[in-house]
Amino acid sequence: MREKIIIDCDPGQDDAVALFLAMASSDELDILGITAVAGNVPLELTQRNARIICDIAGNKDMSVYAGCSRPMLLNLVTAENVHGMSGLDGIDIYEPVKKIDETHAVDFIIETLKASTDKSITLVPTGPLTNIAMAIIKEPSILNNIKQIVLMGGAMREGGNLSPSAEFNILVDPHAAHVVFDSGLPIIVMSLDVTHQVLTTKERVAKISKINNPAAQATAGMLQFFARYDSAKYGFDGAPLHDPCTIAWLLEPDLFQGKPCHVSIETGSNLTMGHTAVDFWGIGNTKPNVTWMHTIDADGFYTLLTERLRNFA
Ligand code: RIB
Ligand code: CA
Repeated sequence: MREKIIIDCDPGQDDAVALFLAMASSDELDILGITAVAGNVPLELTQRNARIICDIAGNKDMSVYAGCSRPMLLNLVTAENVHGMSGLDGIDIYEPVKKIDETHAVDFIIETLKASTDKSITLVPTGPLTNIAMAIIKEPSILNNIKQIVLMGGAMREGGNLSPSAEFNILVDPHAAHVVFDSGLPIIVMSLDVTHQVLTTKERVAKISKINNPAAQATAGMLQFFARYDSAKYGFDGAPLHDPCTIAWLLEPDLFQGKPCHVSIETGSNLTMGHTAVDFWGIGNTKPNVTWMHTIDADGFYTLLTERLRNFA
């Protein structure tokens, strides 16, 4: 049975690779739609970038929906310093053939979930959680139709990447993150603790660059650009390839190790806003609300990604 998913993203080079990995895995994944949210770059660029990726993948049938243009309460903070002004620096940027769907992303998420008969749909957010939270707030009954949420966000061991104590996706919209983490839904969290283990080393990118199709070539170009910021910041060979970890878990969960934990989101302190307070050792008496992933087989991840990129024509 194929896994029905909705990918909610803010492309972003790593979001783009997650989209490629998902679209290259149609035997296992049934992508019901792609929704875009403001994050790495403003919404008009994230929704355009999602459509460019569909064009490059040759996916004429996929629908792309534009969602929320700013966080629920805070002002939007973007990351052009990491992703470039286009959000997809590393490839040629153009107005894609695919048009944006007229339905708002939040309404698409609600309508798709309400039309599903059972808990069969997985939400895969790889950007700030604004669209997901707004869908839950607008139509709480959808909680009965969501199988699970597999998200990229947060950090415990690795500290913050947008502030000393908070990861970008959570800090951009911490109030939305609180709504999602407090929803009672099964949540798989791919935090920086995992994504910092999957670095886009020169050797790994070189293998992808040898694959002769537009999606693999675009991936190599984007990752060569994407690596420069984090390599300089952390002294790594390459950058953490954050968002594809969500799709990889759906495809090969045995690549990962994690544990049930309770996670709270800081929404009161300016100093630690967006911090994911992970009760990793079960010290509090709070029931775990997520599965916190902490280990990944990095070579296995890149073998999966590289092999799937060969599936594109
Ligand atoms: O902190 C990394 C996350 O923030 C990734 O999803 C990246 O695309 C940005 O959205
Ligand atoms: Ca992202």
